Amino acid sequence: MNLKKLAADRAVEWIEDGMTVGLGTGSTAYWAIHRIAERVKEGLNIRAAASSIRSEQLARELGIPFVSLDDIDRIDLTIDGADEADDRLNLIKGGGGALLREKILAAASDRFIVIVDESKRVRTLGAFPLPVEIVPFGSRLTLNRLTALGGNPVVRTSDDGSRYVTDNGNWIADCRFGSIEDPERLQALLNEIPGVVDNGLFVGMASAVVIGKSDGSVEIMEP
Ligand code: A5P
Repeated sequence: MNLKKLAADRAVEWIEDGMTVGLGTGSTAYWAIHRIAERVKEGLNIRAAASSIRSEQLARELGIPFVSLDDIDRIDLTIDGADEADDRLNLIKGGGGALLREKILAAASDRFIVIVDESKRVRTLGAFPLPVEIVPFGSRLTLNRLTALGGNPVVRTSDDGSRYVTDNGNWIADCRFGSIEDPERLQALLNEIPGVVDNGLFVGMASAVVIGKSDGSVEIMEP
């Protein structure tokens, strides 16, 4: 059973005619984009904005109408995946490298719906390495600061071994802080570091986490 698709299909039911919809990034958001495209073909009237170049390309190929973020002030509903979600609906995101654009969309959304399979649900965040987007300039100094915070940063590489570069021209430092007991404090400390653009902790942003489960059910966690 495809648990990612299960969660995605459920979340897409919340989309209504006339909405501006934020599209996430990753293998779970992929299914949401496909389901949204089906609904558009059936007559759903929406406009979309995407959190990555690849999601925008996919959505355009599938015929989803687009709006520029420069032409809107808010988004009705964004649907996106996550790498981890805890019981307080705090998240680690950015495994796909799109964390900055994802956070910009989430922050502009009236409702931010997170779709995951049950493997992503955790008691405490931190088993998944926390992605931190950093500017290339002075990266050694920024990485030193991340090390001093206990993050053991590793600069992400692509499958071909080259440096991974985000859609924003930046790098990702994947950090291992161990168990993250206080995500709010950690995100504040990270964002104080000059050279850090943003980090993959999404604290208090999710309106709901939709979980696809192996028994075929869907669980919805809300604050
Ligand atoms: C993209 O940058 C990420 O935040 C994804 O939303 C996250 O990594 C989940 O991806 P999957 O749905 O592919 O697991």
